[in-house]
Amino acid sequence: MKQTISLLSPSATITMRRAGKLCAILLLHLNNFIKESISTLDINYESEKWTSINGASSAPLNYSIEGAPPFPRSLCSSRNAIVCHGIPCISEILKSGDIVNIDITIKYRNFHSDCSRTFSIGSVLYKHNHLLYVAKKSLKLGILEANPGVNICNIGTAIANYIERFKYSIVKDFVGHGIGISFHMLPFVYHYPNKNYKLLLKPGMAFTIEPMINLGKENIIQLSNKWTFKTKDQEFSAQYEHSLLITTSGVEILTSI
Ligand code: MF3
Ligand code: CO
Ligand code: CO
Repeated sequence: MKQTISLLSPSATITMRRAGKLCAILLLHLNNFIKESISTLDINYESEKWTSINGASSAPLNYSIEGAPPFPRSLCSSRNAIVCHGIPCISEILKSGDIVNIDITIKYRNFHSDCSRTFSIGSVLYKHNHLLYVAKKSLKLGILEANPGVNICNIGTAIANYIERFKYSIVKDFVGHGIGISFHMLPFVYHYPNKNYKLLLKPGMAFTIEPMINLGKENIIQLSNKWTFKTKDQEFSAQYEHSLLITTSGVEILTSI
């Protein structure tokens, strides 16, 4: 497949940097807010409020894909065995021992920024804390591969080489994605080696890396709401995500403080 990947202009780059900062600061703000006995819908509303106060909007709200109704909330909250695209809900109350991924995407002056992290609530089992550590480090190792002139598939290879050391698995059904004027655009970013996919990274490319790491097997099941996926074996899943920009000298993490 011939891919046309858009490169950010200098002015778009400035806006993307601002959008990224807003996303990063919002996650930091939510870090103080997220605790035992609040619901995932409380997190949704706090995020929605913060986003609009800061002159941006929540991209997930009413986001449409084929085969699913418009996404009904402003962020994704994926708790424990939920792999991704969990829908915030008033009856989903966080309790000690939970892990919950909060995935936020904001739209700021027509440009998008997407990041997530997995929070631990109260005291979490050692094996779940370790899963969070490994998922976070796999993202970091993927980011270290992202440099101009490098084949994009090196990102997935680095992630897989690391995850292989553990009995964990990488979810293959979702990919990182180009980001900018659209929420999801080319290129795809595989989180595992994909030898058939060749694309050299160039300055001005912006995309996410967002590996989903399961404690058990990689198999997932779709819930009846059509958006949410959970692990088939009911083991926990963790994810971290950043939006990145390839520069002439390396990579910039747009969604870091
Ligand atoms: N934020 C997710 C991603 O990283 C996409 C969520 S789409 C939504 O690509 F509609 F569920 F919000
Ligand atoms: Co996301
Ligand atoms: Co994303």
